Amino acid sequence: MSLSISTFARVVALVLIGLAMAPAVEAADRDKLLSEPGVYGTFAAFSLDADWGKQDLPIRIAQLTVLKGVVEQHREKLAIDVYLLRGLSDHADMLFRIHATELRETQQFLLDLQSSLFGKHLATSAIMHGLTKKANYVPGFPDQVKAELKNSSEPGPKPYAIVIPIRKSADWWGLDQEKRAAMMLEHTEASAPYIKTVKRKLYHSSGLDDLDFITYFETSKLEDFHSLILALEKVKEFPYNRRFGHPTLIGTVKSLDEIIEILAQ
Ligand code: HEM
Repeated sequence: MSLSISTFARVVALVLIGLAMAPAVEAADRDKLLSEPGVYGTFAAFSLDADWGKQDLPIRIAQLTVLKGVVEQHREKLAIDVYLLRGLSDHADMLFRIHATELRETQQFLLDLQSSLFGKHLATSAIMHGLTKKANYVPGFPDQVKAELKNSSEPGPKPYAIVIPIRKSADWWGLDQEKRAAMMLEHTEASAPYIKTVKRKLYHSSGLDDLDFITYFETSKLEDFHSLILALEKVKEFPYNRRFGHPTLIGTVKSLDEIIEILAQ
């Protein structure tokens, strides 16, 4: 029985990666990092250089083993998610979303990644930072809206991830809390039909980046996401966005092993 090159690569990669797995490092409390306020979220998007694909397969596999090692080593302190942008985005090939209680731990991970044998082939496309915070406006919303917001998204896989950085205008920040809260209530009511199919997470970036927010979404229904944006464009809060996207990053949610398998090909 003959093995195709891709199957061969897959098998060799998985064997080598299995052998090279970092020994039982204690994982960070991922659930806490992903749910609590006061956690730093960094989005780091990279492109692979032209030399990457020109290398022989065993060299690529060895370098991907290094990638696996670096990620596993830092999972002790960080929650690290990976996404494949290649094919869907011209901004970058892959994206890391990193959650940490200290931004310097994220920096150490990115330094180790970039100085590794794999990292030598990475060109940085974008790095953005934000901080998770308790809701600012929701506590003042009517009970019925609060109850609606508690409905979590439908279970099941949400293969697509979208990241949209946002900067608001000085006029927005100049409004009093009451006026902003009224507009955010309108924003929430317009979004409510999409709570079930679009999972979201908000990061506050003012002072940490040239942004005010990083918005992150997961969905299996891109058409719903498209309709959601159209609905939000109609609310009074929307014109206060000075920057919306630039870049908008769209990709698929992958495990590290899936990314490694794809990049080995
Ligand atoms: C299921 C869809 C969505 C729902 C239910 C939703 C709901 C909310 C709620 C309740 C808040 C207020 C949080 C607080 O109290 O601090 C908020 C804030 C925000 N949302 Fe959405 N949202 C959705 C989708 C979106 C989308 C698609 C965008 C833009 C791409 C967006 C951008 C923002 C931004 C930038 C803020 C922060 C605004 C500020 O604090 O000034 N949201 N959203």
